[in-house]
Amino acid sequence: MKVTVVGTGYVGLVTGACLAEMGNHVVCLDVDEAKIRLLNEGGIPIHEPGLEALVQRNAAAGRLQFTTDVAAAVAHGTLQFIGVGTPPDEDGSADLQYVLAAATNIGRHMTDYKVIVDKSTVPVGTADKVRARVRAVLDERGLSDLGFAVVSNPEFLKEGAAVEDCMRPDRIILGADDERAILLMRALYTPFMRNHDRLHLMDVRSAEFTKYAANAMLATRISFMNELARLADRVGADIEMVRRGIGSDPRIGTHFLYAGTGYGGSCFPKDVKALIHTGRENELDLEILRAVESVNERQKHTLVDKAVARFGESLSGRTFALWGLAFKPNTDDMREAPSRVIVADLLARGARVQAYDPAAGDEARRVMQGMQGIAFCATPHEALLGADALLVVTEWKEFRNPDFEFIKASLKQPLILDGRNLYDPVLMRALGIEYQGVGRAAPLRD
Ligand SMILES: NC(=O)c1ccc[n+]([C@@H]2O[C@H](COP(=O)([O-])OP(=O)(O)OC[C@H]3O[C@@H](n4cnc5c(N)ncnc54)[C@H](O)[C@@H]3O)[C@@H](O)[C@H]2O)c1
Repeated sequence: MKVTVVGTGYVGLVTGACLAEMGNHVVCLDVDEAKIRLLNEGGIPIHEPGLEALVQRNAAAGRLQFTTDVAAAVAHGTLQFIGVGTPPDEDGSADLQYVLAAATNIGRHMTDYKVIVDKSTVPVGTADKVRARVRAVLDERGLSDLGFAVVSNPEFLKEGAAVEDCMRPDRIILGADDERAILLMRALYTPFMRNHDRLHLMDVRSAEFTKYAANAMLATRISFMNELARLADRVGADIEMVRRGIGSDPRIGTHFLYAGTGYGGSCFPKDVKALIHTGRENELDLEILRAVESVNERQKHTLVDKAVARFGESLSGRTFALWGLAFKPNTDDMREAPSRVIVADLLARGARVQAYDPAAGDEARRVMQGMQGIAFCATPHEALLGADALLVVTEWKEFRNPDFEFIKASLKQPLILDGRNLYDPVLMRALGIEYQGVGRAAPLRD
């Protein structure tokens, strides 16, 4: 099939590449000329396991093209995926300007039937807005009879495992009421669900809502565990034990039950905000989600609170090694990363930071430009040298079993503040390392 993907970011590029892998002819459009140039030169603008080979293979086969040419891109695909950003506006609502700009472009250049697929995360009612915008532009062009459908097909891929998620989706949510569009979408997705049907067909509004409900639920689990971790610190319990204890109940399950430094990234924070805003617009106070958000904001300060409890209010003259900057492992995405708050807190208290991340160093350097007192290190070992303590911020695999003797020898005093609960407190004690995790105040057995 012929597919156009508007917006070649995390979602658009991965979706485009995976659709091309199944034999479709895909054109990826973006307004960012540098990004398209890089892709056309064989480069990849983001860190995502498996993506580079997938893109290169399909580009070489002629099934995946990149362009900034709007008219050509709109002309290409019967299916027009909109995968542009929907960042939060000042009031927390999703900013739809990019989605509506994409819709305008489609209306301006289309000359035959199109299925417009909202893949971006958009509030309930957005498909109606997209439809109205395309209709208005077609009316202006005197093409009121030109047919098109707008469907909702939210994306559930996880950064760091995006290719895998896209190739083997748990579920495909399709909100649609146009029979021709449903047929085309089903045909497009059939190769991705050969063993069993994972397509959930529903009305458009429910599909739009499903995406927010999923992210709000996951964010709620994280904040719930972070709140309990604070209590565990007070009452002398180990949240890791509690996590295992409750996660073994199949009604609860083990996913997204980790206490840590708070959730970040481009989705949970903005989607929780947007859902709260949708509630407000409809005169509903979404109390649980407001609490989820405020617990999360507080949690981003937890490691520095622990550093202050240990060293005193002023951290002037102290140096902290930071392992991990990306908001989660296997990505270079720094959007809303807790590390940004942690670094700002430390610098504000006069400390210096020596930071290392396996993939997000360049992106961190870009977003933290102008901050005085942070050095970006090329290796985890370099970050440790002469530091007062190690702060573990992102649970990259390479941090899970480090050389603890080297850590001890490199730090001024052997202190680890573990924001991801990667290490065993009993082992830390045996190694002579002072250790604090998040919610791990249980007395240690002898
Ligand atoms: N990143 C994720 O893990 C993820 C997962 C599921 C859903 N989503 C949702 O998908 C959407 C996109 O997220 P993302 O992380 O891929 O964003 P992104 O910022 O990485 O990419 C968006 C791209 O759209 C381009 N763009 C903006 N306006 C355009 C226009 N008019 N025409 C063509 N290109 C345009 C930008 O230049 C950018 O390259 C958001 O709504 C997000 O909430 C993201």
